[in-house]
Amino acid sequence: MQEKTFKQKAVKIVPISLIAVAIIWFGGAAAGLAPVLLQRLAGIVLVTMVYALLLAIPKTELKEKSLFQNLKIKIPVIIVIAAIIWVVAGQAGFPIWWQIEFVAFALVGLFYFVLLDLRTMKPEKGQFHAVIRLIGTYAFASVLFIVITAQLPQFDPAHEIEKLNRPPVKLSGLAGPEVIAAGREVFEQNKCFNCHKVFWEGNSDRGPNLGTKQIGLYSEDYIKEQILEPRKTQSPGFEDPKSKKAMPTYYDEDLSEDELAALVSYLKTMRDPTHMPVEGKFPDQWTWWDDPKILEEGKIVFEGLEPATEGLNCAVCHGKDGIPMMTGALDFRNENQPDTDKMPDHLPGVQMKDWPDGLWYKRVTRGVEGTPMAPWGTIFPHLYLWKAEAYARTFHDPLDKRAEKRPVPPIPTKEDIEKWKTEGLFLDPLL
Ligand code: HEC
Ligand code: HEC
Repeated sequence: MQEKTFKQKAVKIVPISLIAVAIIWFGGAAAGLAPVLLQRLAGIVLVTMVYALLLAIPKTELKEKSLFQNLKIKIPVIIVIAAIIWVVAGQAGFPIWWQIEFVAFALVGLFYFVLLDLRTMKPEKGQFHAVIRLIGTYAFASVLFIVITAQLPQFDPAHEIEKLNRPPVKLSGLAGPEVIAAGREVFEQNKCFNCHKVFWEGNSDRGPNLGTKQIGLYSEDYIKEQILEPRKTQSPGFEDPKSKKAMPTYYDEDLSEDELAALVSYLKTMRDPTHMPVEGKFPDQWTWWDDPKILEEGKIVFEGLEPATEGLNCAVCHGKDGIPMMTGALDFRNENQPDTDKMPDHLPGVQMKDWPDGLWYKRVTRGVEGTPMAPWGTIFPHLYLWKAEAYARTFHDPLDKRAEKRPVPPIPTKEDIEKWKTEGLFLDPLL
């Protein structure tokens, strides 16, 4: 007997079903059955109809599909599903990386369904072929894994800095040139030069040279306190009774608020991007490289425990013990380490033990482009970065093994200071 076509079957199934629904609906209502019951019965008939129609679809012979046939339907379907997942996940407020992951799962699904529908493989010809296929599959999976993971977000210093969610370091007190000039006048009028040098200017060493000490690295509050309450904390190296009482205590009354603000702005410019700060009373001076207290403070910064530099942790990458925790991070234990070659201004052939102070400062404040060594100087106060650098050096040059202190650099000249400005050695434009 000839198999009936789908159409021949459908023209029987559909009318019979609809008549059945009509009988249930009207007959049931007449018999006083509850509407809910009628709806359910009608529903059952309609579902049965759909099943009957599906069964009426003529059987097709099972044939192996070509790869093209295999992909023809699946790819458009997966694209639609992926788009739906993307939109729904987005609407549901998932972060973008979750959206990408969900869609990636859909693509993995596609891969499996395509795999299941592939033509049957020929049986292995022998042990050798089996091994080759096994290794091939493994290699394929490995390459796939590597390629995909390489696309995932890597450590991005700029992004990490953003996450710290801090405004860039405010070189506070750095007012315009007029204010700085006014502050200098206040400095002159109040005879500060009588006791303090500022780099090459002035002729008395009763108090610290505020230039080589780099008083500008300190916070405005610290500088103000030192002027208004000079007995509160003593400058290192000025602990002798004479020095202790030298700095006048009347500036609190003598200086107006505006004068003080201008004075502080002027003092904030006193920094040296080419040398470690210098402490002590001339000629018994030393640099921060050899200052045990600074090294202790530097350790706290280096290990991420300094509240003023919250979020900065050199040890995460360079290691608490100087053993790098990250491939490519500088090994501070190796005194022969050359300067990075990733920066256009690098100093080829100079070993870390001979690096000039300015190189340390520049690399740590500006970072090394394209590496996790970020420009920390754009976020964190440089006072603390110098301290961390002084500490970092101890990994190849421990303090207790030093035969002598590092030489106190010569006082920068007027020309040196001009050069810092024209060569853009400061991070801020005004200096
Ligand atoms: C008579 C001498 C004398 C005069 C004048 C003087 N100072 Fe001082 N100043 C000192 C001495 C000595 C110290 C170091 C001892 C100490 O910390 O008190 C010092 C310390 C300081 C410090 C702290 C430095 C540090 O290590 O933290 C600052 C800032 C300072 N002076 C600013 C000024 C300013 C600004 C003026 C002028 C308005 C001024 N001084 C006038 C003698 C003087
Ligand atoms: C997120 C990881 C990371 C952190 C945090 C980090 N560094 Fe680095 N640092 C690196 C890497 C990586 C390099 C190597 C860059 C390169 O390829 O030359 C490097 C290089 C350096 C260099 C050498 C630059 C040169 O000329 O070769 C110094 C100095 C340095 N870091 C100091 C510090 C100090 C000090 C801190 C803390 C204030 C710090 N780093 C924080 C990852 C980091």
